[in-house]
Amino acid sequence: MPFRTLDTADLAGKRALVRVDFNVPVDGGKITDDTRLRAALPTIHYLSTKGAKVILLAHFDRPKGKVVPEMSLAFVAEPLSKLLEQPVAFAADCVGPKAKAVIDALENGGVALLENVRFHAGEEKNDPDFAAQLAANGDLYVNDAFSAAHRAHASTEALARALPSYPGLAMQRELDALDAALGNPRKPVLGIVGGSKVSTKLDLLRNLVTKLDYLAIGGGMANTFLHAAKIDVGASLCEADMADTALQIIDLAAAAGCKLLLPTDVVVAHEVKPGVAAYTRNVYEVQSDDRILDAGPDTVATLLAAMDASQTLIWNGPLGVFEVPPFDEATVSAAKHAAKLAKSGKIVAVAGGGDTVAALNHAGVSGDFTFVSTAGGAFLEWMEGKTLPGVSALEI
Ligand code: 3PG
Repeated sequence: MPFRTLDTADLAGKRALVRVDFNVPVDGGKITDDTRLRAALPTIHYLSTKGAKVILLAHFDRPKGKVVPEMSLAFVAEPLSKLLEQPVAFAADCVGPKAKAVIDALENGGVALLENVRFHAGEEKNDPDFAAQLAANGDLYVNDAFSAAHRAHASTEALARALPSYPGLAMQRELDALDAALGNPRKPVLGIVGGSKVSTKLDLLRNLVTKLDYLAIGGGMANTFLHAAKIDVGASLCEADMADTALQIIDLAAAAGCKLLLPTDVVVAHEVKPGVAAYTRNVYEVQSDDRILDAGPDTVATLLAAMDASQTLIWNGPLGVFEVPPFDEATVSAAKHAAKLAKSGKIVAVAGGGDTVAALNHAGVSGDFTFVSTAGGAFLEWMEGKTLPGVSALEI
């Protein structure tokens, strides 16, 4: 990897500006999922133990360059301090005298959290002057926020170019896992792409068919592919206007030697309600009032066989409406099988994207995957083959 690594950095007494992603879900002022705080702990501990002054930069929500008091990061300091088991000072601005006063008061190994960087218009504009104001408070820069790395903002991009910069430990782990899944994978590689719409995953599908040996398409988007192949999908979700695009992707896959796995049987019902009567049908036997809500058992068997024949799995998007049982069965069976193979070292299994994490949690197997990325947009853009500005700015 063309990055500096933290173990080569001179840290004692140095001010380390650390970009973290504390854009956490909140309900009634309380954090409902602290995964992103926990993800930052190893890097903070590492820097603190080495005697650096740890200065955390983060955004919260989208205040659009203005001070919006409800979007202050102040509420994060206490839960973070509890997780870290050390005090976290809070500065009411991320630049200027308020930030400087808090940073000047830090002892070596101390930790400070600065106010929402998006309170300044220069942040989202990737403004070099704003980046210089941020840089004035640091001797080095560490980016540990993969999930914000698709944004070319001052605290993720320009700042990395203004100071000696390093990926943090969580960022490094994420980049290593992504490299093992798509950059430099053990072959054959199987991809599973699900979710409701082809239109939101076009770039992703186009990129993946050039890189994978097998690509299984599930969820509502599979209906669009079936429709394009002149198979009647009844009353199912289907983007009929994307049929030509689906055919182009089928052609691209054939030209690239990627075997597409489309459903051969499906689970249908007349409505999406827990416990409604559900039927398994061959895809050629879908009725006009049927709604396809999950992949069928033959389709799942083919998918599990493809997993057995693969060395690497990359997964984004559920195979069915997993939130509403019994339409979770295909997703749960596939997730459990992948987890078993990953746990026994037979496959590298990497998954990511919002719904995917929820689906794997629902199947109770996230912990057995090789890596599960909690990044949303950044994970998708990376799967699309795009350069992530926050990552490339760290390259030496
Ligand atoms: C996220 O929550 O996905 C990241 O923090 C990025 O947030 P944004 O979409 O507001 O840039």
